[in-house]
Amino acid sequence: MKRDILKTLKDEHDELRSLFDQLKETTDRGVKTRQSLLETIENSLIPHAKWEEQVFYPAFKERADRDGLQTHAEALAEHHAVENSVIPEVHSADPGTPEFAGRTKVFGELIDHHAKEEENTMFKMARELFSAEERAQLDEDYEVWKASDDAQQQVAQEKTNAQRKAAAASKGSQTTVNEQGQ
Ligand SMILES: [Fe+2]
Ligand SMILES: [Fe+2]
Repeated sequence: MKRDILKTLKDEHDELRSLFDQLKETTDRGVKTRQSLLETIENSLIPHAKWEEQVFYPAFKERADRDGLQTHAEALAEHHAVENSVIPEVHSADPGTPEFAGRTKVFGELIDHHAKEEENTMFKMARELFSAEERAQLDEDYEVWKASDDAQQQVAQEKTNAQRKAAAASKGSQTTVNEQGQ
């Protein structure tokens, strides 16, 4: 059987789902486990999301009909919500707290929702829009890119951005608490 980018992306979704399941099982005392699971999740999620945004989504958009364009816009908006709001909120929580547990649960639920949408809608459309040869080529390109310096740099950059946004977010929430006089 030929390799297929849609199969690779789906396998990565499943891997993420299983990591989030493991994270849900941790307790507030399992700080090290939580930190290392979060690290593993990000190392898997960031290259996946970046490549979708930079290669797969644009290629899909070029061939999509009206429904496909809406699906594309939806997927991209979800990526942005995760990147700009969900991940920074996770990073501004201490891993030994219920806040961390709650925020990572939402993170996992959003990823599961987003992955389902991709699998049930976008990937279904993509199976019609791209030939088996094209899907095999994309899969090969993705593997090569993931091993590249560019991929490593983007992951590192994204992590730095998340920390920066987390610091800004926790500053913002402190202000809100103070304003409320709590
Ligand atoms: Fe995605
Ligand atoms: Fe995906």
